[in-house]
Amino acid sequence: MEGRHLLDMAEGGHNAVLHAPRRFGKTSLLKQVLQGAEKHDIPGVLVDLSDVLSVADVAARLEQAFRGLPGNIQRLISKELGSVAITTPIAGLSFTRRNPPSDPIAAVHTLLELPARIADRRGKRVLVVLDEFQSLIALDGMDGVFRSHIQHHNDVSYLFAGSEPSLLRTLFEDRARPLYSQAERLRLGRLDPDATHDFLSGRFEASGMDAAAIIPDLVYVAEGHPQRLMLVAHLLWDRVGTANEATLADLRSAYDAAMRAVDPELRYLWDSLGTNERRVLAALASGLSPYQQEAQLLMGLAGGGSAARATRALEGKAIVERVEDDERLRIVDPLFARWVRRHGGARAQVYVFPQAGRFAVTDGPSLAFLRSTHETLSEAEADADRIVASARGGDVMIYDTDDPNELPDWAVPRTDP
Ligand SMILES: Nc1ncnc2c1ncn2[C@@H]1O[C@H](COP(=O)(O)OP(=O)(O)O)[C@@H](O)[C@H]1O
Ligand SMILES: [Mg+2]
Repeated sequence: MEGRHLLDMAEGGHNAVLHAPRRFGKTSLLKQVLQGAEKHDIPGVLVDLSDVLSVADVAARLEQAFRGLPGNIQRLISKELGSVAITTPIAGLSFTRRNPPSDPIAAVHTLLELPARIADRRGKRVLVVLDEFQSLIALDGMDGVFRSHIQHHNDVSYLFAGSEPSLLRTLFEDRARPLYSQAERLRLGRLDPDATHDFLSGRFEASGMDAAAIIPDLVYVAEGHPQRLMLVAHLLWDRVGTANEATLADLRSAYDAAMRAVDPELRYLWDSLGTNERRVLAALASGLSPYQQEAQLLMGLAGGGSAARATRALEGKAIVERVEDDERLRIVDPLFARWVRRHGGARAQVYVFPQAGRFAVTDGPSLAFLRSTHETLSEAEADADRIVASARGGDVMIYDTDDPNELPDWAVPRTDP
C-alpha cells in the first residue's frame, strides 16, 4: 500500500520522505518501489547513506549506487562516472580503492548531477532513493550540497528515507524549507495483525510446520514490528522444524532465544541513554505514563519538565513513539520493552523457580512475594500465567535450573546455620 503510493509519487515527479524506526522495513520497501519504477521504465538508484563517515565515503556510496544501474543506462554517464572512479567493481563486489579521490567534494558534486544527466539524455524520468538520509547530518554542510543539486532537478524524483525523526526534521524543516515544501512525508507503520497472521500461516504451511495454535501469540508478542516478528518466527522454525506442531513452549523458547540474541545490542542502547531517558522507559515498561505522578515517584523523575524533555529525546531517536490516533506513548521495539522490564528497573513481574523439590511462583523478586508452589514446572507456569492475566499485565520469568548459581540471589535456598 505504501509502496504503491510512493511509486505514484515518483512517477508523478513528486519528492517524498519515508520515515519509520530502524528495522521497520524501509529498505525492503524502497527496493520494491525501485523494482516497480523499473517496470514503468523509470530507472532508479538506491544510495545507502547509513553511517557515512566522510565526504569521500558519500562519494563512494553514490558511485556504488550508479554502478548498480543497467549497462545501457550506465553508458549514458560513463564519462562522468569514469572521471570520479572511486570503487572498482569485481564480480559484482565493489572494493574501495586505497587512496581516496583527490577531491571528494568535487566527486560528490559530479555524482549528484548524474541523475539529471540520465534523465536528460534519455528524455525520461529517473528515481533517486536516498536511504538513511539523516546520516548526512554528521557531515557539516553536506545536506546543503545535496540540496543545491536536488532542488533544480525537475526530471528526477527523490525519495528520502530515514529512521531518526529528529534529524530528518532538522534536515527538512529547519534548514531546508525549499526541499521540505516539495516533499510529502510518509510514515511506515507497524504490520497489520490480520495480514501478519495470514502471511505467517502461508509461510509456515509452505515450510511444513504446523503453527496454527501459536500464530496468534506470535503476532501478539511481535507487536507488528517487522524485524522482531521475523526474528522470533525464524527462531521458532529452528526449534520446531518441518512436520511438527509448534507449541506455546516452543514460542516461549524462541522468544527467549530472541531476547538472548539481542541482549548485547539492547544493553549497549541502554548504556547510551541518559538517566531520565531510562526512567521514562522504565515507567513505560511498567505500563505507566511518564507524566503520571505515580511513575515520577516510582522512577525518580524530578517532574513533568524532565519527563517531557527525556520523552522528546527518546521520540527523536525513534526509541519511543506515540500511538496513532492517541497520545499514548509506547516503546517501539517489543524486545527492548521486555528488556527494560527485566533489567531496566520497571515494575516487578512474576517469577517461577525450583524450590525444595517443587516449583515456586512469586509476583516479585523476593520469597516474601511467594504466591504458590507446585509439583511440576508446567503447573507453576500455568499459575504464573494466571497471575499475569489477572493483573494489569506483566512478564513471567522462569528459572528452569538445578544449578543454584543460575538463580537470582533471593531465590537461592538458604540453609539454616
Ligand atoms: N513487510 C514485511 N513483512 C515481514 N517482514 C518484513 C517486512 N519488511 C521488512 N521485514 C523484515 O524486517 C527486516 C528489516 O527490514 P529493513 O527493510 O532492513 O528495515 P529498515 O530499512 O527500516 O531498517 C527485514 O530483514 C525483514 O526480515
Ligand atoms: Mg534500512
